Amino acid sequence: MSPIRSATAVAHPNIALVKYWGKRDEDLILPFAGSLSLTLDVFPTTTTVTLTPQAPNDSVFIDGTPATGVALRRITAFLDLLRTRTGHQDRARVETHNTVPIGAGLASSAAGFAALALAASTAYDARLDAAGLSRLARRGSGSACRSIFGGFAQWHAASPDSPDPDHASYAEPLHDVHPGLNPALIAVLLQTTPKPISSSEAMHRTVATSPLYRSWLRSTREALPAMRTALTNGDLERVGTIAERNALGMHATMETALPPVRYRTPASLHLLDHIQVMRENGQQVWATMDAGPNIKVLCPAGQAPDVSAELAAISGSQTVIARPGPAATLTARCPR
Ligand code: PMV
Repeated sequence: MSPIRSATAVAHPNIALVKYWGKRDEDLILPFAGSLSLTLDVFPTTTTVTLTPQAPNDSVFIDGTPATGVALRRITAFLDLLRTRTGHQDRARVETHNTVPIGAGLASSAAGFAALALAASTAYDARLDAAGLSRLARRGSGSACRSIFGGFAQWHAASPDSPDPDHASYAEPLHDVHPGLNPALIAVLLQTTPKPISSSEAMHRTVATSPLYRSWLRSTREALPAMRTALTNGDLERVGTIAERNALGMHATMETALPPVRYRTPASLHLLDHIQVMRENGQQVWATMDAGPNIKVLCPAGQAPDVSAELAAISGSQTVIARPGPAATLTARCPR
């Protein structure tokens, strides 16, 4: 009898400093523009995939609870990709453990699909290199392609003229970031319940109806090389300024969609105002936000404890200090 094939992987969320917002191909998950992110050292997701040759269906457990509906369909469709590629038809049991609230704009799907891509490709013996793994993770959730890598990573949009855009769209780690850049990202957990509208639906609606979407896309394409230069120069002020502007622009696009999508709550706006005041008082702090009401604040690592305490006091919410984190890793596999 052949041994049970099983693998466990850990991955961390990443927060984009130049955002991905809008797909030009919803099936292959190809973005309209490239994006750039920082993988964090907090909130890991651990996922085990075990092939179950006798089972008629995949079974998925998220934090101990059987997944149903959209969550189950997304994971089964992802495993189908691997089954098609490898010719292994076995169903699988997927068990995933999150340490971050799901669906609150804290990048749980990025960590989740990065861990799943690594664990499942190992269990199905797909033998992918890092770029291949990133491409695969992208098919689960776009932003997941960046969580394959530690530190800063850039996801290439792939030119529409490319003969194989699926192959050309993957993330790569950045090796030319100035060693003196010493950032921290503080997550302010204003609200940890799942968002009412998925990022997929919000993106779709934005691309289809927001009159601001094209300008934001143009500014994002300009922000990418500017962000690369700021990172190589170790210029945190420039990094923060570009990141905050790009995130606020992204929210402006969705808030002008029909019907509008508004993830920012009064608590988010109050904190954004306060961050601006902190900056006017000379502190180096810049905000970014994803598909949810929570705010992440970029600052120099040395100032993070003080900044974090101030943000917690102003918002009355829990804050978590994150630093650049590691690449997705395999923690167990059978057979070895
Ligand atoms: O990967 P998705 O489909 O959950 O998209 C997330 C997009 C943002 O988090 C809002 C921005 C980004 O680049 O991560």
